[in-house]
Amino acid sequence: MLDFVHDINTKVLFGKGCIEKLPEELAPLGRRVLLAYGGGSIKRTGLYDTIMKLLSDGGFEVTELSGIEPNPRIGSVREGVKLCRERGIEAVLAVGGGSVIDCAKAVACGVFFEGDPWDMIRTSRRRMKALPLAAVLTLSATGSEFDDSGVISNLETHEKLGAILTPPAVSFCDPTYTFTVSKYQTASGSADILSHIFEGYFSRTDDSDVFDGLAETVMKTVIKYTPTALDEPENYSARANLMVCSSIGCSGIPEYGKRGTGWPCHAMEHELSAYYDITHGVGLAILTPRWMRHILKKDPTVTPRFARFARNVFGITEGSEAELAEKGIDAIDAFLRSVGLPTCLSELGIGEEHFEAMAEHANRGGRLERAYVPLTKEDVIGIFRACL
Ligand code: NZQ
Ligand code: ZN
Repeated sequence: MLDFVHDINTKVLFGKGCIEKLPEELAPLGRRVLLAYGGGSIKRTGLYDTIMKLLSDGGFEVTELSGIEPNPRIGSVREGVKLCRERGIEAVLAVGGGSVIDCAKAVACGVFFEGDPWDMIRTSRRRMKALPLAAVLTLSATGSEFDDSGVISNLETHEKLGAILTPPAVSFCDPTYTFTVSKYQTASGSADILSHIFEGYFSRTDDSDVFDGLAETVMKTVIKYTPTALDEPENYSARANLMVCSSIGCSGIPEYGKRGTGWPCHAMEHELSAYYDITHGVGLAILTPRWMRHILKKDPTVTPRFARFARNVFGITEGSEAELAEKGIDAIDAFLRSVGLPTCLSELGIGEEHFEAMAEHANRGGRLERAYVPLTKEDVIGIFRACL
């Protein structure tokens, strides 16, 4: 097991009705609040009214930043920074999925950044000075409620970049808020959670058993409860388990003690979203099995890890190590095909015209050369082609 640092200082309130504690938790952070939200789901569900009442009863002064898009744009960040400066905002309250929370993180940091927020996103590699941030999670997927990163898009330059920004000081995770999440977003969210786990699990370190075991439990939980959440959107157990998996999945904890992997599927998916503005989890669901098949073929030394995945996650025991490895990939492929998401890029109207440029960008800073199985530009183009 390699050395690691545990440094997560987000307070998480988990469970039905935890929002009642919002005024108490927010008061020490600030009284003049920027309320950030997306395209209107929180108004349709009534959460907006609940929060506005709590804030007004608590004597908070509220400024709104609304209309934050999925794959949040740098334009929303710029708008939020301007509002914060004009109104003397003291704290940011994000209510929504990963896109809203990520945008709110960038706004909270952008207030203290001298220069254009896009330069901050391009260059940020460590936690930044930020306004305090509270998050109310409404979609289980990204783990943004429990990490310090944010992913912001600049569609003009075809860039979607992850940046280290700031963690929420406090996150409210009420699984009942996810009852209204569509089947499409529920399935995408689960594909994203699984991918966060895969990105750490498929590593060269084999003796970090406690964290591999945690990762396997998260994978089994997502595979068990996603179909339930799709069939019964108001099943509390399913939504609650998926919500915890969201937070753990991208927290870094499942990777503790393990060698870095370059997160290759995320590097490739962010190119798809940057060029075609697709849903993050959908891109991952399409890429993941193709990436797995590609690296298993390219480098058979990964066979034992894939065999372990088959055994410990899917309970497959019959066959040689090589057969188990293939069966494990077949099993996750079948699962990802079963949840109702698009299964290839052509279904999304994506062709190969930008594959060269996307493959080059995906390897920014030589990131994919340090991947679990190092990937060349040709490898990445091959994986994209296999997704068509
Ligand atoms: O905008 P509204 O109207 O709120 O609707 C949203 C949006 O259309 C809707 N939604 C959210 N909660 C809902 C709901 N609809 C009904 N009921 C609810 N309770 O769902 C749609 C998608 O929301 P979004 O926030 O975009 O989804 P997600 O949470 O999957 O976030 C995706 C973004 O996060 C980034 C992705 O790249 C993408 O930009 N990521 C962030 C990470 C991080 N911060 O650590 C890591 C991830 O790997 C990921 O890259
Ligand atoms: Zn992700």
